[in-house]
Amino acid sequence: MKIINVKASKNYQITVDSGFESFKTQILPLIKGDKVAVITDDTVDSLYFNAVESLLSGKTVYKFVLPHGEENKNAENYIKLVNDLAKAGLSRKSTVIGLGGGVVGDMSAFVASTYMRGVSYIAIPTTLLSMVDSSVGGKTGIDLDAGKNLLGTFFQPDAVYVNTDCLKTLPKREITSGLGEIMKYAFIDGRIAPSDLVNVCYEDLIVKSLQIKRDIVERDERESGERMLLNFGHTIGHALEKLYDYKLSHGECVLKGMAYALEISTKLGNLSKQDKNLGLKFIESSGVSFDKDFTAEQILSVVKSDKKADGDTVNFVLTSGFGKGVIKKIKIDSLAECL
Ligand code: NAD
Ligand code: GLY
Repeated sequence: MKIINVKASKNYQITVDSGFESFKTQILPLIKGDKVAVITDDTVDSLYFNAVESLLSGKTVYKFVLPHGEENKNAENYIKLVNDLAKAGLSRKSTVIGLGGGVVGDMSAFVASTYMRGVSYIAIPTTLLSMVDSSVGGKTGIDLDAGKNLLGTFFQPDAVYVNTDCLKTLPKREITSGLGEIMKYAFIDGRIAPSDLVNVCYEDLIVKSLQIKRDIVERDERESGERMLLNFGHTIGHALEKLYDYKLSHGECVLKGMAYALEISTKLGNLSKQDKNLGLKFIESSGVSFDKDFTAEQILSVVKSDKKADGDTVNFVLTSGFGKGVIKKIKIDSLAECL
């Protein structure tokens, strides 16, 4: 078992273990109130809900199940969830547990941050992506018709419990998706080297990723500067997610977005062509295709509605090589020639 301490607006611990054995000592004492709302999706429900419910001895457990998939991280499901919590009699003293991937995590944390002006929240991430990224750092939210994650809050959890055994049931495509976020860390922070992705040890990669994210979040929780580095590949990645109508996963679109970001880093930044090609090979090793299915105009019209856009400019994350992320204000139109 490994413990990572986070000191942000709320201090909390992330436990990384290969089983649920340490849940009773690490998490149960932190659960406030008698009533616990477990929010999950239909896939994770059938795989892990019973195991988690059996750990919550002495609590009255209420289960709320979303259909799986990004298209369900929407306002309609959010309103339904908070109404269902109210109907079940969950009070301000209750705890919400998010059991699932990043979709369940973003939605359930948003519910916890807003229900009765905020209740206690525990994250149990079950995808590689949510273990290395979305369960930590306090970004919550849902998608609007105008774009991804446009409604949300910053709200830190009370604890995060990562059971790496959950990866055993994760489809290969979702592993690739998580590797996308891990590669992101390699481009912005030298603590993950390309060689770490050759003979992959997931527990090590998860702990290193979480340490990188923890350090950045502790220095810039509300993303006024350095935290933007965590958006490497995401500005175009988010646009692609919308253009592919969420048929490709978040991580797959981030991988494609990072390939574009490398191109932009050579044209508008200091990345050498040699390092760009090394980076592209690295991304290609994930198995994601570099097909360009959309025109520059299509991509940029979505980029303009991104949270990171400010009029005709966007804070874009470039890299100068592995481990060297750089934030640069760029005119959105000047991206066209790089796409
Ligand atoms: P996801 O939550 O949709 O999970 C992917 C699929 O895997 C789903 O079908 C799910 O049911 C299934 N699944 C989950 N755990 C499983 C398991 N152990 N075994 C088998 N199947 C399992 O997707 P994701 O990639 O985890 O998360 C993507 C979301 O995370 C996006 O909405 C993205 O915007 C968000 N995100 C948020 C942050 C943040 O900081 N808040 C950071 C990165 C990504
Ligand atoms: N995933 C980007 C962030 O947490 O800031």
